[in-house]
Amino acid sequence: MNQPVMAGVAALNVPAYVKQQKLVSWVAEIAALTKPSSIYWCDGSQEEYDRLCALMVAGGTMKTLNPAKRPNSYLACSDPSDVARVEDRTFICSATREEAGPTNNWTDPQEMRATMSGLFDGCMQGRTLYVVPFSMGPLGSPIAHIGVELSDSPYVAVNMRIMTRMGRAVYDVLGSDGQFVPCVHSVGAPLAAGQKDVAWPCNPTKYIVHYPETREIWSFGSGYGGNALLGKKCFALRIASNMGREEGWLAEHMLILGVESPAGKKHYVAAAFPSACGKTNFAMLVPPKSFSGWKVTTIGDDIAWIKPGADGRLYAINPEAGYFGVAPGTNTQTNPNCMASMQSDTIFTNVALTDDGDVWWEGMTAAAPDHLIDWQGKDWTPAIAKETGRKAAHPNSRFTVAALQNPVIDPAWDDPAGVPLSAFIFGGRRSTTVPLVTEARNWVEGVYMAATMGSETTAAATGQMGIVRRDPFAMLPFIGYNMSDYFQHWLQIGKKIAASPAELPKIFCVNWFRTDENGKFVWPGFSDNMRVLKWMIDRIENNAGGVENLFGTTPRYADLMWEGSDFSQQQFDTITSIDKAAWSEEVKLHTELFEKLQHHLPAELMSAKAQLEKRLAA
Ligand code: OXD
Ligand code: MN
Repeated sequence: MNQPVMAGVAALNVPAYVKQQKLVSWVAEIAALTKPSSIYWCDGSQEEYDRLCALMVAGGTMKTLNPAKRPNSYLACSDPSDVARVEDRTFICSATREEAGPTNNWTDPQEMRATMSGLFDGCMQGRTLYVVPFSMGPLGSPIAHIGVELSDSPYVAVNMRIMTRMGRAVYDVLGSDGQFVPCVHSVGAPLAAGQKDVAWPCNPTKYIVHYPETREIWSFGSGYGGNALLGKKCFALRIASNMGREEGWLAEHMLILGVESPAGKKHYVAAAFPSACGKTNFAMLVPPKSFSGWKVTTIGDDIAWIKPGADGRLYAINPEAGYFGVAPGTNTQTNPNCMASMQSDTIFTNVALTDDGDVWWEGMTAAAPDHLIDWQGKDWTPAIAKETGRKAAHPNSRFTVAALQNPVIDPAWDDPAGVPLSAFIFGGRRSTTVPLVTEARNWVEGVYMAATMGSETTAAATGQMGIVRRDPFAMLPFIGYNMSDYFQHWLQIGKKIAASPAELPKIFCVNWFRTDENGKFVWPGFSDNMRVLKWMIDRIENNAGGVENLFGTTPRYADLMWEGSDFSQQQFDTITSIDKAAWSEEVKLHTELFEKLQHHLPAELMSAKAQLEKRLAA
């Protein structure tokens, strides 16, 4: 397919190995609309990655880090207006408002298409259109799906090479008639002839648009993270949740980890936490020294695609191939495996630059270096920070690194068949009310816990931080259809497993974030989360005690393994106590949520709430 087709002024330059006419026609159509000066088909090679990075270094988008300290690594600093996901500019344009549901922004698809056509008309002028083919999940896996992103950002192209299986091999799987999710992305900053580019082009007008019926994504105006790397939140969660609903599977905002006992028995669990609540740390957990023989390994740190297998069990894959993690707070204590992963071949975004050409962020070391260049390119010293409160790294600064660099990557992380799940964990960031860990007594109670989960907001999205909002299943910003229908889908999956010979995975709810009267975290977290994880595994194995409380089963102090810890019974009581008055207030918020989600809200969840209210009143 080497024809010299022209799209606007740019030659299409289709490589001979691209065999799909539908794909070529679509690229031609988008190029005719966006009018790039050239079109480049990414092959995913190292040579191409190096070349694009060098191009961005020359253009000022990236800096090369000191090769002696951080080989093959770069620092990119974004425009200060483009630093996080923009939830208020994210749209689910299903045929009707009801299908998107009350938690999503909705615009009529016809109207949105007209808006998009206007914005994208000529938006790539003076830039290169990169054709980025990628597979979410192991190439050719029955759980995987393919996407192609057309983007005018080389930063997107190189990040997609780390975050997905990106490159030429995707075309072999796609063949002449395979399906792909079309993803169109522009930073929205056309260049007039002779106009000098800026280091981080973007546009104050931003739109992150999904058309679930046609499984299409259009993103305009941002070059940052989930707004621009369209395989991640847009495809693997918002579009894939729609695919999962239609096809009987789940696309979830979950890490997946393997946990092996000293006896060699292994379980896999998937855990949902809102953005920037420690998923990457939990996925790479190092057990305390006293847990000799226990091993934790990573399948994924952010997204899980979960399909029922022939034996009735649920099998999960990580659709991604890298980690786009939050840097601040990551250090050799909180996540040594992550620190080891980032020793080389890493792209850092919006962290600070040290005087010897390395990176630094708040929480990386106990004491900050004497001098840094902050993420906005300004001089920074501890004294300046004290005086102004200015952070050296943006609170949502990130690292992009390949999963294969993780020293505790699970041997099955790339297995096309996925791994069988024994449990689901749901966790929010709550300074009060929610106890350390609770096991649901049955699937419906677990779905209720997940559906009513609340969490304090973080810097991962623009907007006010630290506000408790309901974040059902940690999917509030990521569900691609009506939230109530999503709850129903989860109940349906439970019924399907219950009707099979397989056991239902257990469901747990955790909260690592309770604070004391001085606002300090009580639970040490990180490695010590292994104590909670072990209790869960023991419960799965029918090997641990617990007591029933208002809304599930919780461990007593003696049910957890405390060897090597000085965490006291009294501290344990502080973070496991259930305050009835606080719970009465909490349930009022569940009622508020359910009123909002009334349309199609499953009756089972209403009756789970009624039971909880009855227990509270007793
Ligand atoms: C992420 C997020 O980037 O959840 O993973 O915001
Ligand atoms: Mn996430």
